Amino acid sequence: SEHTHAGAAVAARAEARWAWIVGAIILFLVAMMAYMSLHWAAMPPTRTETVDPTTLHIAGEFVETNLGSVAEPDGTVTVRVLANQYSFTPQCIVVPANTPLHFRGTAADVVHGFSVSNTNVNMMLVPGYISNFRTKLERPGEHVMPCHEYCGTGHAAMWAHVKVID
Ligand code: CUA
Repeated sequence: SEHTHAGAAVAARAEARWAWIVGAIILFLVAMMAYMSLHWAAMPPTRTETVDPTTLHIAGEFVETNLGSVAEPDGTVTVRVLANQYSFTPQCIVVPANTPLHFRGTAADVVHGFSVSNTNVNMMLVPGYISNFRTKLERPGEHVMPCHEYCGTGHAAMWAHVKVID
């Protein structure tokens, strides 16, 4: 009948309208995903710091006189470490117990591993980048600091010491 036809036409129009709305929502979400992935792919990870590995010994934060522990005005201690095939500088790091520590390290040549035995300190030292690790070591004692990333023939002999004092 005429009446049924009119009802079907109204239903079809409503259906088409909703199909457009759903389509627009899907398009918007896909566009947002594409935008976000491109946006993040174009950005370095948060707080990435770069450094020129070829001039570390000449200028900047990682010159030899700057390496090791330094007490900061805010009561924390910053520890700067440089990794080379096949040693860490400094060879012995002394830090106070129960104090916020901020390790900052980089590598001059290849990727090295940085870990302090019996602690949560563990990171990679990558040429061109500064690695950061914040922790607090509760008890006084001695720890070994081995390189835990294969870095060449001298890898197994590459390690240093960390001494936690009261
Ligand atoms: Cu440095 Cu392994």
